[in-house]
Amino acid sequence: MSSNMEIYNTFGLPATADRYLVVRDESQLRTLLSTNQINHPYLILGGGSNMVFTKHFPGTIIHLENKGICLLEESPSQDDVLVEAAAGEVWDDFVHYCIAHGWYGAENLVAIPGTVGAAPVQNVGAYGVEAKNVIYSVRAFDIFTGQERIFTNAECQFAYRNSIFKGTLRNHFIIWSVVFRLHKVFAPDLQYKALSDALQSACIKNPTPQQLADIITEVRWRKLPRPEQMGSAGSFFKNPVVSVEHYERLKSLYPDIVAYSVSDGYKLAAGWLIEKAGWKGRDMGRCGVYEKQALVLVNRGGCSGSEVLALADAVTDDVQKLFGVILEKEAIII
Ligand code: EPU
Repeated sequence: MSSNMEIYNTFGLPATADRYLVVRDESQLRTLLSTNQINHPYLILGGGSNMVFTKHFPGTIIHLENKGICLLEESPSQDDVLVEAAAGEVWDDFVHYCIAHGWYGAENLVAIPGTVGAAPVQNVGAYGVEAKNVIYSVRAFDIFTGQERIFTNAECQFAYRNSIFKGTLRNHFIIWSVVFRLHKVFAPDLQYKALSDALQSACIKNPTPQQLADIITEVRWRKLPRPEQMGSAGSFFKNPVVSVEHYERLKSLYPDIVAYSVSDGYKLAAGWLIEKAGWKGRDMGRCGVYEKQALVLVNRGGCSGSEVLALADAVTDDVQKLFGVILEKEAIII
C-alpha cells in the first residue's frame, strides 16, 4: 500500500490516489473485505485503458493482479468448453491462450487493451463480436458484505458498451474471475466490413484461427494508436443511436453518412460525425483527435485530464450543433 502514487493509465495522464492496493490472491481480497479495509471511495483498476483521470482520486485504487486460466470440467455441450480466467489476466494474452488451446469465439476481440476483469464491465467489442457473446458467467465479491456472487450472462444485463457493473451495480462488486463459453469448432464471424475487406485483399477466404487473429491485429493497429506509442483510451465516445426519422433527416442532408440499422433506430458511426465536423487530426492544447480514427482522442505529450475534457466538450458541441446528436463518452471520467 502506498499513497500519492502515480497510477498507470494508457492515456498517460497524471493520476494519483490516496491509497493504492495491489491484490493478487483471493484470501487477500477476502481479508480486505471482511476487515472493511476497502473504504469508499474506491476504484478498481484493470489495465487502466478506459479511464481518464482529471484529478487526484481521494480514495483507494485497487489494482487486481490475480492470474490463472483453467478449463472447467463441466461443459454445456459436447462442442463447447467453459474456461475460467482471473480478472487480472491481460485480455489479449487470454485470447491468444484460447486460440492456442483450440477454444474459439474470442478471436475478433484480439489486441484489445485491458484485462479480463474489465471486459464484462463495458462489454468490450470489436469487429462484430462483443464480450457478451462469449461470457458465460462472472464471479464477483460484494464490496459491502464481502459475499461472493455468480452473475449469469443474463444477469450481467449486457448492452452496447454497457453492463450492470457500469450501471446500477457500479462500484458495488469486485469482479474476480470470468467464465467463458467457447467452441471447439472454429466458426468465425467474418462479416465486419473492415475485416472482410482485409481478408479479401490478403486473398484469404477461410482463415485459420491464427490467421484471423493476425489480420484483426493488423487492421486494428492500422487505425488505432498503440498504447506504448501514443496515449489514448481507445474509442473515447460511443456510437450514438438515433430514431429512424432523425436518421432519415440526416441521410437526406448527408447521403454518405455511415449508419447501421439496429432494433431501436440507427447506430451512427461517431467517427464519421466527428470527421465531418472537421475535428479529425485537430489538436487543442496538448491533446488531439487522432488522425487515423476520429473516435479516439490522443495525448500529444504531457496532456492533462482537464485538457482532454475540454477537447471532448468542444467536439461534442460541434457534433450536436451540426447533426443534433449528443455524443456519450465511452471512457470513464475520474
Ligand atoms: N469512420 C469515419 N471516420 C473516422 C472513423 C470512422 O468516417 O475517423 C467511419 C468509417 O466509414 C468506418 C466506420 O466509421 O467504416 C466505422 O469505423 P470503424 O470500423 O473504425 O469502427 P468504429 O465504429 O469507429 C468501433 C468500436 C471500436 C472497435 C471498432 C471495430 C465503438 C465506440 N468503437 O469503432 O472499439 O475497435 O468498432 O470493431 O463502438 C474501443 O471501444 O475502444 C474501440 C476501439
